[in-house]
Amino acid sequence: MLLITGGLGYIASHVTISYMEKNPAEDVLLIDSCVNASLSRYEVLRGLFPGKVHFMFGDICNLPWLETVFKIFPIHAVIHCAGLKAVGESVQIPLTYYQNNLISTLNLLQLMKQHQVKTFIFSSSATIYGVPEHIPITESHPIVPTQPYGQTKAMIEQILADFWKAESKHGFKIVSLRYFNPTGCHPNGLVPEEPSGYPNNLFPAILSVIQGRLPELKIYRSSSGITQDTPDGTGVRDYIYVCDLADAHVRCLDYLKEKPEAVYDFWNVGTGSGYSVLDVVHEFEKQLEHEIPKTMTDPRPGDVPICIANVDKWRNTFQWVPSTPLSTMVQTALHGLKLK
Ligand code: WQD
Repeated sequence: MLLITGGLGYIASHVTISYMEKNPAEDVLLIDSCVNASLSRYEVLRGLFPGKVHFMFGDICNLPWLETVFKIFPIHAVIHCAGLKAVGESVQIPLTYYQNNLISTLNLLQLMKQHQVKTFIFSSSATIYGVPEHIPITESHPIVPTQPYGQTKAMIEQILADFWKAESKHGFKIVSLRYFNPTGCHPNGLVPEEPSGYPNNLFPAILSVIQGRLPELKIYRSSSGITQDTPDGTGVRDYIYVCDLADAHVRCLDYLKEKPEAVYDFWNVGTGSGYSVLDVVHEFEKQLEHEIPKTMTDPRPGDVPICIANVDKWRNTFQWVPSTPLSTMVQTALHGLKLK
């Protein structure tokens, strides 16, 4: 049985749908502490795949509780999406981020070793690269995160490398997927991104303005880039359609299943192209057929001007690159809003 931690979250619920659509005979176990997700998401997923989606409410930092989960369920692989992920918040409460993100992962690895669960896909992030020295960013780019959230992702990748090396004779298959900017929503509109608290990310912020929950969109100018200024003075990001990102996890599982020997690897998961904030705003306005209230403001502390993935390594391994266009990401995000 596939275990997905943070299972009710935005990314994990899309991974669940993608996995179940391709593996209808399989079961999946979702665990979530519901710190950043709502239990209603389980009802949606259970409704989509009756009898196949199981859920355990709990905190994977609680080792005795997690131990019972491994004893009860025949887990054969883990996709680890659970983790605190607000960059700004991580600067305010670093200990909470280090404790939560690191201890949860250490617990998982300890129990995987104990129960001989050998396949592990980690939800990493482009944020580990810090301020890009070159664009597009390759996997060999220096790992220099600039805030505690990014540090936890970099530290976990180091933990995974060390653990794998120590266990190299035992056939572990451990990989990290370095997400760029996941956006959009499954066409069914049932599993939209629902950030708790203030919407830090661009798409949820725009959706909050559209819903009237925010009076206007604050557009942060891009700080003058070390590499290059952005075309229109606003930040450029590699937005990847969340369903493509979910598919990337399922393709990775299939890839690891085919591998007879131990595997340790990591890939950028993006599209290889970027859109500015204004590109995104203009696409929303085009589809809405009206303007979005917005105001330009100073650069956001910690922002990098441009962040785009070099996806050659991913392409060479999987012979496929996520390429869903911005128009679809915007269209599905708006569709998800209507069904909220
Ligand atoms: C994108 C662009 C902003 C909001 C993300 C996630 C973080 C982590 C790292 C997972 C930037 C601009 C945004 C707004 C704006 N993800 N913006 N007004 O900065 O790449 O960080 O990747 O590991 O959780 O935040 O994405 O969506 O926050 O910002 O102008 O209200 O939109 O300045 O240029 P970012 P983002």
